[in-house]
Amino acid sequence: MRPLLRRLDALDHVRERGPSGRTRPGGTHRLEAESFLRMRSRLKTMKINQNTVLQGKKVTLVPYTSAHVSRYHEWMKSEELQRLTASEPLSLEQEYEMQCSWQEDADKCTFIVLDTERWSGQAGTEEDCMVGDVNLFLTDMEDPTVGEIEVMIAEPRCRGRGFGKETTLIMMFYGVTKLGITKFEAKVGQENEASICMFKKLHFKEVAVNRVFQEVTLKLDVNEQQRQWLLEQTNHVEEKNYSVLNLQTRASET
Ligand SMILES: CC(C)(COP(=O)(O)OP(=O)(O)OC[C@H]1O[C@@H](n2cnc3c(N)ncnc32)[C@H](O)[C@@H]1OP(=O)(O)O)[C@@H](O)C(=O)NCCC(=O)NCCS
Repeated sequence: MRPLLRRLDALDHVRERGPSGRTRPGGTHRLEAESFLRMRSRLKTMKINQNTVLQGKKVTLVPYTSAHVSRYHEWMKSEELQRLTASEPLSLEQEYEMQCSWQEDADKCTFIVLDTERWSGQAGTEEDCMVGDVNLFLTDMEDPTVGEIEVMIAEPRCRGRGFGKETTLIMMFYGVTKLGITKFEAKVGQENEASICMFKKLHFKEVAVNRVFQEVTLKLDVNEQQRQWLLEQTNHVEEKNYSVLNLQTRASET
């Protein structure tokens, strides 16, 4: 397991982890306070997903809230997921702290992935419908059009069914249309064939291999042709308001 650079001070670590605590030492930058604040002021739009629901055919993306933390914490006890996502386990308390930090931070955007069929059929609580997460980080303080994407389909029964692909497409759609991202990057363990194949299916190209961290970097520049393709792939996605949906659910339960 690689050493973890934990978020002790936002000025030290701009690039940290997903909700689970994912991070890569190679992706962490020390910044001068001034540059950091400059970047933060440019990136405040990243918080705009806090009330956004993106409903696709197989998956629905919802904002990461405290209601998701307990299940998330259970997932991240899996050694396989820790290895595949380059994570270390956190205590439940640390997981709640991380969720708060994610909700507040401006330079990253995260969604929890739900199984659309279960969720729209109201076949249980939202927690019962959780299958994974997806994150988008702004990693280049000079260029806010670059986004690093991470995706995890944590539930083994849901892998290989198109959930990861649709999740990534929806996040890319959101990144391009709402956050102004035009260049995507993904950093994946060299042995993670499923993930590498998935990003290649989504037109990413392998551009670098880091032999120390045994990690490949894949990139996609969204030119006009790619943008059109992305819009076609996601034209079924419906955007909804999370608060309104929750109010409706509560009303139907009473
Ligand atoms: C990698 C991951 C996100 C893929 O999601 P998924 O839902 O299982 O994948 P999908 O069913 O959407 O498949 C999308 C493409 O990925 C590739 N793929 C998926 N599973 C694969 C496997 N076991 N072997 C090789 N390629 C695979 C295929 O190219 C597939 O396209 P196709 O169905 O048109 O052939 C998911 O398996 C996962 O989260 N694994 C654990 C955590 C992880 O590795 N996260 C990535 C860290 S960056």
